[in-house]
Amino acid sequence: MQQVNLDDHTLSFGAALRHHRRQQGLSLRQLAGLVAYSPGWLSRIENGMSTPTMQLARLCDRELATDGVLAALAGSGLATRPGRLRPAQLPAGPAQFVGREHDLRALDALLAHSTQTHSPLTVSIDGPPGVGKTALMIRWANQVSAAFPDGVLYRDLRGHSADAEPMRPTDVLADFLAALQICAPAVPADVEQRAAMFRSVLAGRRMLVILDNAADSRQVAPLLPGTAGCAAVVTSRRRLTGLAVRAGAAKVSLGPMSPEESFALLCAVVGPERILAEPDAARDLGWRCAYLPLALRIAAEQLATRPHRSVALLVGELADDGDRLNVLSDGDDPNLAVRSAFWGSYRELDAEASRAFRLLGLYPSNRIQASVAAALIERPLAHTRRLLESLVSVHLLEETGPDRYRLANLLRAYAAERADAEDARVGDNDAATSGR
Ligand SMILES: Nc1ncnc2c1ncn2[C@@H]1O[C@H](COP(=O)(O)OP(=O)(O)O)[C@@H](O)[C@H]1O
Ligand SMILES: [Mg+2]
Repeated sequence: MQQVNLDDHTLSFGAALRHHRRQQGLSLRQLAGLVAYSPGWLSRIENGMSTPTMQLARLCDRELATDGVLAALAGSGLATRPGRLRPAQLPAGPAQFVGREHDLRALDALLAHSTQTHSPLTVSIDGPPGVGKTALMIRWANQVSAAFPDGVLYRDLRGHSADAEPMRPTDVLADFLAALQICAPAVPADVEQRAAMFRSVLAGRRMLVILDNAADSRQVAPLLPGTAGCAAVVTSRRRLTGLAVRAGAAKVSLGPMSPEESFALLCAVVGPERILAEPDAARDLGWRCAYLPLALRIAAEQLATRPHRSVALLVGELADDGDRLNVLSDGDDPNLAVRSAFWGSYRELDAEASRAFRLLGLYPSNRIQASVAAALIERPLAHTRRLLESLVSVHLLEETGPDRYRLANLLRAYAAERADAEDARVGDNDAATSGR
Protein backbone atom coordinates (compact mmCIF):
# COMPACT_ATOMS: atom_id res chain seq x y z
CA MET A 1 0.00 0.00 0.00
CA GLN A 2 1.20 3.47 -0.78
CA GLN A 3 2.52 5.33 2.23
CA VAL A 4 0.61 8.56 2.78
CA ASN A 5 2.73 11.43 3.94
CA LEU A 6 0.46 13.94 5.64
CA ASP A 7 2.93 16.73 5.09
CA ASP A 8 2.24 16.46 1.38
CA HIS A 9 -1.31 17.45 2.03
CA THR A 10 -1.07 19.95 4.79
CA LEU A 11 -3.55 22.70 5.25
CA SER A 12 -0.72 25.16 5.19
CA PHE A 13 -0.89 28.61 3.74
CA GLY A 14 2.12 27.93 1.53
CA ALA A 15 0.60 24.87 -0.11
CA ALA A 16 -2.64 26.75 -0.77
CA LEU A 17 -0.78 29.73 -2.20
CA ARG A 18 1.24 27.55 -4.55
CA HIS A 19 -1.83 25.65 -5.69
CA HIS A 20 -3.84 28.77 -6.52
CA ARG A 21 -0.90 30.52 -8.17
CA ARG A 22 -0.38 27.57 -10.47
CA GLN A 23 -4.05 27.35 -11.20
CA GLN A 24 -3.92 30.91 -12.47
CA GLY A 25 -0.93 29.97 -14.61
CA LEU A 26 1.36 32.43 -12.83
CA SER A 27 5.06 31.93 -12.12
CA LEU A 28 6.45 32.89 -8.75
CA ARG A 29 8.11 35.88 -10.42
CA GLN A 30 4.86 37.05 -12.03
CA LEU A 31 2.88 36.86 -8.79
CA ALA A 32 5.71 38.61 -6.96
CA GLY A 33 5.43 41.44 -9.50
CA LEU A 34 1.69 41.74 -9.01
CA VAL A 35 1.85 41.93 -5.21
CA ALA A 36 5.13 43.88 -5.13
CA TYR A 37 7.05 41.37 -3.00
CA SER A 38 10.30 39.64 -3.91
CA PRO A 39 10.14 36.21 -5.58
CA GLY A 40 12.56 34.86 -2.98
CA TRP A 41 10.26 35.90 -0.15
CA LEU A 42 7.21 34.34 -1.82
CA SER A 43 9.18 31.16 -2.34
CA ARG A 44 10.05 31.01 1.38
CA ILE A 45 6.36 31.44 2.19
CA GLU A 46 5.23 28.78 -0.25
CA ASN A 47 7.71 26.40 1.32
CA GLY A 48 6.50 27.13 4.83
CA MET A 49 9.77 28.79 5.85
CA SER A 50 8.34 32.26 6.48
CA THR A 51 5.10 33.63 7.87
CA PRO A 52 2.91 35.70 5.57
CA THR A 53 1.50 38.98 6.80
CA MET A 54 -2.24 39.52 6.60
CA GLN A 55 -1.58 42.27 4.07
CA LEU A 56 0.26 39.89 1.75
CA ALA A 57 -2.48 37.26 2.16
CA ARG A 58 -5.11 39.80 1.13
CA LEU A 59 -3.09 40.97 -1.86
CA CYS A 60 -2.69 37.38 -3.03
CA ASP A 61 -6.41 36.72 -2.52
CA ARG A 62 -7.14 39.69 -4.77
CA GLU A 63 -4.70 38.75 -7.53
CA LEU A 64 -5.59 35.05 -7.48
CA ALA A 65 -9.37 35.55 -7.01
CA THR A 66 -9.38 33.12 -4.10
CA ASP A 67 -12.44 34.41 -2.24
CA GLY A 68 -10.61 35.36 0.95
CA VAL A 69 -9.25 31.88 1.54
CA LEU A 70 -5.63 32.91 1.89
CA ALA A 71 -6.47 35.64 4.40
CA ALA A 72 -8.58 33.13 6.31
CA LEU A 73 -5.68 30.66 6.36
CA ALA A 74 -3.23 33.36 7.39
CA GLY A 75 -5.54 34.30 10.26
CA SER A 76 -6.14 30.72 11.36
CA GLY A 77 -2.66 30.21 12.73
CA LEU A 78 -1.90 27.63 10.05
CA ALA A 79 0.40 29.95 8.16
CA THR A 80 3.53 28.52 9.64
CA ARG A 81 2.28 25.43 11.48
CA PRO A 82 1.47 22.84 8.88
CA GLY A 83 -2.05 21.66 9.69
CA ARG A 84 -2.04 18.18 11.06
CA LEU A 85 -5.77 18.12 11.47
CA ARG A 86 -7.40 15.62 9.20
CA PRO A 87 -11.19 15.72 9.58
CA ALA A 88 -12.49 12.17 9.98
CA GLN A 89 -16.19 12.78 10.51
CA LEU A 90 -17.53 9.51 9.16
CA PRO A 91 -19.87 7.78 11.64
CA ALA A 92 -19.59 4.06 12.33
CA GLY A 93 -21.44 1.74 9.97
CA PRO A 94 -23.28 -1.50 10.82
CA ALA A 95 -21.17 -3.99 12.74
CA GLN A 96 -21.88 -6.79 10.27
CA PHE A 97 -21.99 -5.49 6.71
CA VAL A 98 -22.93 -8.04 4.07
CA GLY A 99 -23.26 -8.11 0.29
CA ARG A 100 -23.68 -5.12 -2.02
CA GLU A 101 -20.58 -6.09 -4.00
CA HIS A 102 -22.13 -4.91 -7.23
CA ASP A 103 -22.84 -1.41 -5.88
CA LEU A 104 -19.42 -1.16 -4.21
CA ARG A 105 -17.79 -2.02 -7.52
CA ALA A 106 -19.92 0.57 -9.32
CA LEU A 107 -18.73 3.23 -6.86
CA ASP A 108 -15.11 2.10 -7.30
CA ALA A 109 -15.45 2.39 -11.08
CA LEU A 110 -16.85 5.92 -10.80
CA LEU A 111 -13.94 6.96 -8.59
CA ALA A 112 -11.41 5.41 -10.97
CA HIS A 113 -13.00 7.23 -13.89
CA SER A 114 -12.92 10.59 -12.12
CA THR A 115 -9.24 10.05 -11.27
CA GLN A 116 -8.43 9.25 -14.89
CA THR A 117 -10.34 12.26 -16.21
CA HIS A 118 -9.05 14.63 -13.49
CA SER A 119 -12.56 15.70 -12.61
CA PRO A 120 -14.27 15.91 -9.23
CA LEU A 121 -16.63 13.03 -8.52
CA THR A 122 -20.22 13.60 -7.41
CA VAL A 123 -22.36 10.54 -6.92
CA SER A 124 -25.83 10.20 -5.47
CA ILE A 125 -27.11 7.01 -3.87
CA ASP A 126 -30.89 6.92 -3.87
CA GLY A 127 -33.39 4.34 -2.74
CA PRO A 128 -36.30 3.71 -0.40
CA PRO A 129 -36.06 4.25 3.37
CA GLY A 130 -34.20 1.48 5.17
CA VAL A 131 -32.67 -0.01 2.02
CA GLY A 132 -29.09 0.54 3.22
CA LYS A 133 -27.97 3.77 1.53
CA THR A 134 -26.13 5.07 4.58
CA ALA A 135 -24.62 1.68 5.34
CA LEU A 136 -23.32 1.33 1.76
CA MET A 137 -21.93 4.84 1.70
CA ILE A 138 -20.06 4.36 5.00
CA ARG A 139 -18.70 1.01 3.88
CA TRP A 140 -17.41 2.45 0.63
CA ALA A 141 -15.97 5.57 2.27
CA ASN A 142 -13.98 3.36 4.64
CA GLN A 143 -12.72 1.23 1.77
CA VAL A 144 -11.44 4.20 -0.23
CA SER A 145 -10.29 6.48 2.58
CA ALA A 146 -6.64 6.14 1.48
CA ALA A 147 -7.55 7.97 -1.74
CA PHE A 148 -8.56 10.98 0.38
CA PRO A 149 -5.56 11.73 2.58
CA ASP A 150 -6.92 15.17 3.53
CA GLY A 151 -9.88 13.60 5.28
CA VAL A 152 -13.60 13.07 5.26
CA LEU A 153 -16.34 15.59 5.98
CA TYR A 154 -19.76 14.19 6.89
CA ARG A 155 -23.14 15.79 7.51
CA ASP A 156 -26.64 14.43 7.97
CA LEU A 157 -28.69 16.97 6.00
CA ARG A 158 -31.89 15.74 7.70
CA GLY A 159 -33.82 15.87 4.46
CA HIS A 160 -36.48 13.40 5.57
CA SER A 161 -36.39 13.64 9.30
CA ALA A 162 -39.82 13.55 10.96
CA ASP A 163 -38.83 15.77 13.87
CA ALA A 164 -36.24 18.20 12.48
CA GLU A 165 -36.05 20.73 9.68
CA PRO A 166 -33.63 20.07 6.81
CA MET A 167 -30.20 21.62 7.43
CA ARG A 168 -29.58 24.96 5.74
CA PRO A 169 -26.61 24.82 3.33
CA THR A 170 -25.20 27.99 4.88
CA ASP A 171 -24.99 26.32 8.32
CA VAL A 172 -23.41 23.19 6.88
CA LEU A 173 -20.81 25.34 5.11
CA ALA A 174 -20.01 27.15 8.36
CA ASP A 175 -19.42 23.79 10.09
CA PHE A 176 -17.32 22.43 7.25
CA LEU A 177 -15.18 25.57 7.13
CA ALA A 178 -14.70 25.35 10.90
CA ALA A 179 -13.61 21.73 10.52
CA LEU A 180 -11.12 22.96 7.91
CA GLN A 181 -9.77 25.38 10.50
CA ILE A 182 -11.00 28.55 8.85
CA CYS A 183 -11.53 31.01 11.68
CA ALA A 184 -15.16 32.09 12.10
CA PRO A 185 -14.66 35.85 11.53
CA ALA A 186 -13.16 35.12 8.10
CA VAL A 187 -16.28 33.24 6.95
CA PRO A 188 -18.53 35.43 4.77
CA ALA A 189 -22.23 35.74 5.64
CA ASP A 190 -23.56 35.24 2.14
CA VAL A 191 -24.16 31.60 1.20
CA GLU A 192 -22.76 31.98 -2.33
CA GLN A 193 -19.55 33.47 -0.97
CA ARG A 194 -19.34 30.79 1.69
CA ALA A 195 -19.71 28.13 -0.98
CA ALA A 196 -17.00 29.80 -3.07
CA MET A 197 -14.70 29.88 -0.05
CA PHE A 198 -15.41 26.21 0.66
CA ARG A 199 -14.51 25.24 -2.91
CA SER A 200 -11.37 27.36 -2.77
CA VAL A 201 -10.25 25.76 0.50
CA LEU A 202 -10.79 22.30 -0.98
CA ALA A 203 -8.89 23.14 -4.14
CA GLY A 204 -5.63 21.21 -4.20
CA ARG A 205 -6.74 18.86 -1.46
CA ARG A 206 -8.02 15.34 -1.64
CA MET A 207 -11.13 15.19 0.50
CA LEU A 208 -14.28 13.15 0.57
CA VAL A 209 -17.47 15.07 1.36
CA ILE A 210 -20.43 12.98 2.49
CA LEU A 211 -23.92 14.41 2.51
CA ASP A 212 -26.42 11.98 4.03
CA ASN A 213 -30.20 12.29 3.65
CA ALA A 214 -30.36 15.17 1.21
CA ALA A 215 -33.79 16.75 0.78
CA ASP A 216 -33.22 17.84 -2.82
CA SER A 217 -30.60 19.00 -5.32
CA ARG A 218 -30.84 22.63 -4.25
CA GLN A 219 -29.80 21.80 -0.72
CA VAL A 220 -26.75 19.92 -1.98
CA ALA A 221 -25.46 22.17 -4.79
CA PRO A 222 -23.56 24.72 -2.62
CA LEU A 223 -21.86 21.90 -0.69
CA LEU A 224 -20.08 20.26 -3.61
CA PRO A 225 -16.32 20.52 -4.14
CA GLY A 226 -15.34 21.87 -7.53
CA THR A 227 -11.89 20.41 -8.11
CA ALA A 228 -10.35 17.11 -9.08
CA GLY A 229 -9.08 14.99 -6.22
CA CYS A 230 -12.23 15.60 -4.18
CA ALA A 231 -15.39 13.55 -4.22
CA ALA A 232 -18.90 14.04 -2.87
CA VAL A 233 -21.29 11.22 -2.06
CA VAL A 234 -24.90 12.17 -1.47
CA THR A 235 -27.65 9.88 -0.22
CA SER A 236 -31.32 10.63 -0.63
CA ARG A 237 -34.70 8.97 -0.73
CA ARG A 238 -35.45 11.04 -3.78
CA ARG A 239 -33.95 10.70 -7.19
CA LEU A 240 -31.80 13.80 -7.41
CA THR A 241 -32.23 14.45 -11.10
CA GLY A 242 -31.30 18.12 -10.70
CA LEU A 243 -27.90 17.09 -9.39
CA ALA A 244 -27.26 14.95 -12.45
CA VAL A 245 -28.22 17.80 -14.75
CA ARG A 246 -26.43 20.61 -12.92
CA ALA A 247 -23.39 18.91 -11.43
CA GLY A 248 -23.06 15.91 -13.76
CA ALA A 249 -23.62 13.63 -10.78
CA ALA A 250 -23.50 9.89 -11.31
CA LYS A 251 -26.23 7.81 -9.74
CA VAL A 252 -26.40 4.53 -7.90
CA SER A 253 -29.96 3.38 -7.22
CA LEU A 254 -30.11 0.95 -4.36
CA GLY A 255 -32.84 -1.69 -4.32
CA PRO A 256 -33.73 -4.41 -1.83
CA MET A 257 -31.17 -7.11 -1.12
CA SER A 258 -31.12 -10.36 -3.05
CA PRO A 259 -32.55 -13.41 -1.22
CA GLU A 260 -28.96 -14.65 -0.78
CA GLU A 261 -27.78 -11.37 0.73
CA SER A 262 -30.80 -11.39 3.06
CA PHE A 263 -29.92 -14.92 4.17
CA ALA A 264 -26.32 -13.83 4.76
CA LEU A 265 -27.49 -10.85 6.81
CA LEU A 266 -29.59 -13.12 9.04
CA CYS A 267 -26.61 -15.47 9.47
CA ALA A 268 -24.33 -12.56 10.35
CA VAL A 269 -26.62 -11.08 13.01
CA VAL A 270 -28.35 -14.16 14.46
CA GLY A 271 -25.47 -16.58 14.03
CA PRO A 272 -25.20 -19.20 11.29
CA GLU A 273 -26.15 -22.21 13.49
CA ARG A 274 -29.73 -21.13 14.10
CA ILE A 275 -30.32 -19.90 10.57
CA LEU A 276 -28.84 -23.02 8.95
CA ALA A 277 -30.99 -25.17 11.26
CA GLU A 278 -34.12 -23.59 9.72
CA PRO A 279 -33.09 -22.56 6.20
CA ASP A 280 -36.61 -22.60 4.72
CA ALA A 281 -38.02 -20.47 7.52
CA ALA A 282 -35.06 -18.08 7.13
CA ARG A 283 -35.79 -17.70 3.41
CA ASP A 284 -39.46 -17.03 4.22
CA LEU A 285 -38.36 -14.45 6.74
CA GLY A 286 -36.34 -12.65 4.04
CA TRP A 287 -39.39 -12.54 1.80
CA ARG A 288 -41.70 -11.37 4.59
CA CYS A 289 -39.22 -8.56 5.23
CA ALA A 290 -39.40 -7.62 1.53
CA TYR A 291 -35.60 -8.15 1.52
CA LEU A 292 -35.37 -4.67 3.05
CA PRO A 293 -32.21 -4.43 5.21
CA LEU A 294 -33.90 -2.36 7.93
CA ALA A 295 -36.70 -4.92 8.32
CA LEU A 296 -34.24 -7.82 8.15
CA ARG A 297 -32.07 -6.21 10.76
CA ILE A 298 -34.96 -5.65 13.17
CA ALA A 299 -36.18 -9.22 12.67
CA ALA A 300 -32.64 -10.53 13.13
CA GLU A 301 -32.12 -8.55 16.35
CA GLN A 302 -35.38 -9.98 17.72
CA LEU A 303 -34.09 -13.48 17.12
CA ALA A 304 -30.66 -12.64 18.48
CA THR A 305 -32.08 -11.36 21.76
CA ARG A 306 -34.41 -14.38 22.14
CA PRO A 307 -32.17 -17.42 21.84
CA HIS A 308 -34.99 -19.95 22.35
CA ARG A 309 -37.34 -18.56 19.77
CA SER A 310 -37.57 -20.37 16.45
CA VAL A 311 -37.29 -18.58 13.12
CA ALA A 312 -40.56 -20.24 12.06
CA LEU A 313 -42.39 -18.64 14.96
CA LEU A 314 -41.30 -15.16 13.89
CA VAL A 315 -42.30 -15.92 10.29
CA GLY A 316 -45.74 -16.91 11.61
CA GLU A 317 -46.09 -13.58 13.39
CA LEU A 318 -45.15 -11.74 10.21
CA ALA A 319 -47.73 -13.62 8.15
CA ASP A 320 -50.53 -11.37 9.37
CA ASP A 321 -50.48 -8.31 7.06
CA GLY A 322 -52.22 -6.21 9.69
CA ASP A 323 -49.64 -6.97 12.35
CA ARG A 324 -46.45 -7.12 10.31
CA LEU A 325 -45.39 -3.53 10.93
CA ASN A 326 -45.98 -3.91 14.66
CA VAL A 327 -43.70 -6.93 14.73
CA LEU A 328 -41.05 -5.04 12.75
CA SER A 329 -40.46 -2.39 15.33
CA ASP A 330 -37.93 -2.11 18.06
CA GLY A 331 -39.72 -1.66 21.37
CA ASP A 332 -36.85 0.46 22.69
CA ASP A 333 -36.41 2.93 19.91
CA PRO A 334 -39.41 4.15 17.89
CA ASN A 335 -37.06 5.58 15.27
CA LEU A 336 -35.81 2.10 14.57
CA ALA A 337 -39.10 0.89 13.18
CA VAL A 338 -40.00 0.22 9.58
CA ARG A 339 -43.14 2.26 10.08
CA SER A 340 -41.28 5.44 11.05
CA ALA A 341 -38.88 5.02 8.13
CA PHE A 342 -41.84 4.89 5.72
CA TRP A 343 -43.59 7.75 7.47
CA GLY A 344 -40.63 10.02 6.68
CA SER A 345 -41.31 9.61 2.96
CA TYR A 346 -45.09 9.37 3.10
CA ARG A 347 -45.56 12.63 4.97
CA GLU A 348 -43.80 14.52 2.16
CA LEU A 349 -46.38 13.50 -0.43
CA ASP A 350 -49.01 15.98 -1.51
CA ALA A 351 -52.67 15.17 -0.80
CA GLU A 352 -53.39 13.57 -4.17
CA ALA A 353 -50.27 11.39 -4.27
CA SER A 354 -50.81 10.20 -0.70
CA ARG A 355 -54.43 9.31 -1.52
CA ALA A 356 -53.24 7.32 -4.54
CA PHE A 357 -50.67 5.52 -2.36
CA ARG A 358 -53.31 4.58 0.21
CA LEU A 359 -55.68 3.26 -2.47
CA LEU A 360 -52.88 1.14 -3.97
CA GLY A 361 -52.54 -0.44 -0.53
CA LEU A 362 -56.14 -1.61 -0.70
CA TYR A 363 -55.79 -3.19 -4.15
CA PRO A 364 -55.72 -7.00 -3.83
CA SER A 365 -52.42 -7.46 -5.71
CA ASN A 366 -49.04 -5.81 -5.24
CA ARG A 367 -48.65 -5.49 -9.03
CA ILE A 368 -50.79 -3.01 -10.90
CA GLN A 369 -51.02 -1.45 -14.36
CA ALA A 370 -51.50 2.27 -14.87
CA SER A 371 -54.94 1.82 -16.46
CA VAL A 372 -56.15 -0.23 -13.49
CA ALA A 373 -54.69 2.30 -11.08
CA ALA A 374 -56.54 5.05 -12.97
CA ALA A 375 -59.83 3.23 -12.40
CA LEU A 376 -58.93 2.61 -8.76
CA ILE A 377 -58.16 6.21 -7.96
CA GLU A 378 -60.77 7.59 -10.38
CA ARG A 379 -58.48 9.91 -12.31
CA PRO A 380 -57.67 10.17 -16.05
CA LEU A 381 -54.81 7.95 -17.24
CA ALA A 382 -52.30 10.76 -17.94
CA HIS A 383 -52.94 12.27 -14.52
CA THR A 384 -52.63 8.87 -12.87
CA ARG A 385 -49.29 8.29 -14.57
CA ARG A 386 -47.99 11.54 -13.10
CA LEU A 387 -49.17 10.56 -9.63
CA LEU A 388 -47.58 7.12 -9.91
CA GLU A 389 -44.38 8.70 -11.18
CA SER A 390 -44.28 10.98 -8.14
CA LEU A 391 -44.52 7.88 -5.91
CA VAL A 392 -41.75 6.20 -7.92
CA SER A 393 -39.50 9.25 -7.60
CA VAL A 394 -39.56 8.94 -3.79
CA HIS A 395 -39.23 5.14 -3.95
CA LEU A 396 -42.65 4.40 -2.47
CA LEU A 397 -43.53 2.48 -5.64
CA GLU A 398 -41.44 0.57 -8.15
CA GLU A 399 -41.80 0.79 -11.91
CA THR A 400 -41.34 -2.70 -13.37
CA GLY A 401 -42.08 -1.98 -17.06
CA PRO A 402 -44.03 0.39 -19.28
CA ASP A 403 -47.15 1.33 -17.29
CA ARG A 404 -46.46 -1.46 -14.82
CA TYR A 405 -45.84 -0.95 -11.14
CA ARG A 406 -45.13 -2.93 -8.02
CA LEU A 407 -45.70 -2.09 -4.37
CA ALA A 408 -43.25 -3.98 -2.12
CA ASN A 409 -45.10 -6.06 0.44
CA LEU A 410 -44.10 -3.98 3.46
CA LEU A 411 -45.06 -0.74 1.72
CA ARG A 412 -48.36 -2.29 0.78
CA ALA A 413 -49.02 -3.15 4.41
CA TYR A 414 -48.11 0.42 5.32
CA ALA A 415 -50.36 1.93 2.62
CA ALA A 416 -53.28 -0.22 3.80
CA GLU A 417 -52.62 0.86 7.37
CA ARG A 418 -52.67 4.54 6.37
CA ALA A 419 -55.88 3.97 4.40
CA ASP A 420 -57.44 2.44 7.48
CA ALA A 421 -56.34 5.29 9.70
CA GLU A 422 -57.07 8.20 7.37
CA ASP A 423 -59.80 7.29 4.91
CA ALA A 424 -62.07 5.84 7.59
CA ARG A 425 -62.26 9.32 9.00
CA VAL A 426 -63.16 11.30 5.91
CA GLY A 427 -64.46 14.68 6.94
CA ASP A 428 -62.65 14.53 10.22
CA ASN A 429 -60.20 17.43 10.17
CA ASP A 430 -58.16 15.67 12.74
CA ALA A 431 -57.40 12.83 10.31
CA ALA A 432 -54.37 10.97 11.49
CA THR A 433 -51.27 12.93 10.81
CA SER A 434 -48.90 10.81 12.75
CA GLY A 435 -47.48 7.69 11.25
CA ARG A 436 -45.86 6.36 14.35
N1 LIG B 1 -25.28 -4.33 3.58
C1 LIG B 1 -25.73 -4.36 4.84
N2 LIG B 1 -25.30 -5.29 5.71
C2 LIG B 1 -25.77 -5.32 6.97
N3 LIG B 1 -26.68 -4.48 7.47
C3 LIG B 1 -27.16 -3.52 6.65
C4 LIG B 1 -26.73 -3.42 5.30
N4 LIG B 1 -27.38 -2.39 4.71
C5 LIG B 1 -28.17 -1.88 5.66
N5 LIG B 1 -28.05 -2.54 6.82
C6 LIG B 1 -28.78 -2.26 8.06
O1 LIG B 1 -30.12 -1.91 7.71
C7 LIG B 1 -30.56 -0.78 8.42
C8 LIG B 1 -30.98 0.32 7.45
O2 LIG B 1 -29.84 0.74 6.71
P1 LIG B 1 -29.55 2.28 6.40
O3 LIG B 1 -28.23 2.32 5.73
O4 LIG B 1 -29.72 3.09 7.63
O5 LIG B 1 -30.72 2.58 5.37
P2 LIG B 1 -31.07 3.95 4.62
O6 LIG B 1 -29.92 4.88 4.81
O7 LIG B 1 -31.26 3.54 3.20
O8 LIG B 1 -32.35 4.45 5.22
C9 LIG B 1 -29.43 -0.39 9.34
O9 LIG B 1 -29.69 -0.96 10.60
C10 LIG B 1 -28.21 -1.02 8.74
O10 LIG B 1 -27.31 -1.35 9.73
MG1 LIG C 1 -29.79 6.69 5.76
